[in-house]
Amino acid sequence: MECSWKAVVLLVFTSLGIQYTAIKSLRMAFKPPCREMGSESRCLQKEFKDNATRMFCEDYLQQESRKHIIILATTRSGSSFLGQIFNQNPDIFYLYEPLYHVQRAFTNSSGRVQKPIDRRSLLGAYRDLLHNLYNCDFYFLENYLRPIPKDHETSSFFRRGASNALCLPPLCEQINPVNEHLCSKKCKTVNLTLVSDSCHRYKHMAIKTVRIPEINDIRTLVEDPRLNLKVIHLVRDPRGILASRMNTFTDLYRAWKIWNTLGRKPHNIDLSQITTTCTDLSNSVETGFSRPLWLKGKYMLVRYEDLARDPVTKAKEMYKFIGLEWKVKVQKWIEQNTKGYVGLTRNFKFSTSRNAAETAENWRLHLGLGLVHALQQICNVTLSLLGYQTVDSTIQLRNLSNSLVEPKTFTPFT
Ligand SMILES: *[C@@H]1O[C@H](CO)[C@@H](O)[C@H](O)[C@H]1NC(C)=O
Ligand SMILES: *[C@@H]1O[C@H](CO)[C@@H](O)[C@H](O)[C@H]1NC(C)=O
Ligand SMILES: *[C@@H]1O[C@H](CO)[C@@H](O)[C@H](O)[C@H]1NC(C)=O
Ligand SMILES: *[C@@H]1O[C@H](CO)[C@@H](O)[C@H](O)[C@H]1NC(C)=O
Ligand SMILES: *[C@@H]1O[C@H](CO)[C@@H](O)[C@H](O)[C@H]1NC(C)=O
Repeated sequence: MECSWKAVVLLVFTSLGIQYTAIKSLRMAFKPPCREMGSESRCLQKEFKDNATRMFCEDYLQQESRKHIIILATTRSGSSFLGQIFNQNPDIFYLYEPLYHVQRAFTNSSGRVQKPIDRRSLLGAYRDLLHNLYNCDFYFLENYLRPIPKDHETSSFFRRGASNALCLPPLCEQINPVNEHLCSKKCKTVNLTLVSDSCHRYKHMAIKTVRIPEINDIRTLVEDPRLNLKVIHLVRDPRGILASRMNTFTDLYRAWKIWNTLGRKPHNIDLSQITTTCTDLSNSVETGFSRPLWLKGKYMLVRYEDLARDPVTKAKEMYKFIGLEWKVKVQKWIEQNTKGYVGLTRNFKFSTSRNAAETAENWRLHLGLGLVHALQQICNVTLSLLGYQTVDSTIQLRNLSNSLVEPKTFTPFT
């Protein structure tokens, strides 16, 4: 009933040839109850009886096919590399860790949540920001930017250069090649009005984050009918994650380094972080494996080791799952950055594809057996769920001819 009068209003407006924007906002407002309406199926048949209908349909088809991709990962699990598979696609507006700004606003210098806001509220703020960003509303981000932007302009957009879309005209002058180094040098402030505008012009949107602990924490976003969310859940062997963190965050992981070097467990070692990482991983994976209805068609698990072994094949699988068209440009980027290409993108460089797989297991040469044993105990559930074999001896640990990554296919639940 409700639907039919709206259809009439819509038809009247359409035949009057009223402004495109008016129709657009009407469509936005009426979309959910009018799913079965005839005009949408006519759009699919691409029969446009006038220009207004054509515009309505173009907008409709674009909205329907727009994908909101979220890359859910943990620190040092290869998410920057995986993110590039979306960042290099000219149809995708990609954002690198926008939730950083929320975290900064609510935590003190030691990264702890400040008293008045607890974990649940922080997660709520994360979800709110994600929702607004997927709708290309960048003004919402201003709540968290420091210093507070003036006239919607900011120079403190976190890792702006890691997002190609933020380094291209109209957001910055033309730079060549488009990369983080050159972008952060040449592109100074960013106009958030223009960012919102530019965001709308891309077919899809992808956001990478290491700040959402578990898949359950974004359930309300996944279920939101206004979004078309596709979750790429990137996981990695926690022993590899730890080795990489020890290498990168030398201060935070000092006690671990001492343990690894001296072979004796320091009294002050803080096991909570890696324990949490493993619990979050296993909780998410168990949720995914249990195939709840709310994840149907929306969740894909990717092991970093599989991605490193054969990045192009894995990338194509992800594109297929999401429903994206494969891009030669993405393939070229992967090939150049996994085959000894020397350039400014060297952060992602592996010397060869084959070596990339070895790099993924390189932690085995750097971690001592004592530490590995401890980790295998803490993370036993995660390791067994994801098909990472445990070792009992140093000989087993160091012999890279035997991969510890069991061949395993994680078919997306569709
Ligand atoms: C429809 O748009 C095209 C160009 O986009 C224009 O040439 C044509 O005259 C328009 N037709 C009507 C009926 O307005
Ligand atoms: C940060 O907050 C935590 C918890 O509220 C507190 O224990 C810690 O001392 C604070 N650190 C700094 C540097 O303020
Ligand atoms: C930002 O861009 C908008 C839209 O083009 C423009 O109206 C506004 O003046 C710009 N803001 C600044 C501070 O340049
Ligand atoms: C993991 O370890 C716990 C405690 O040591 C044990 O109860 C549990 O069965 C183990 N789980 C797996 C999957 O190995
Ligand atoms: C490593 O494993 C391979 C395959 O199992 C075996 O042939 C080789 O002898 C091992 N190397 C060492 C040094 O144990």
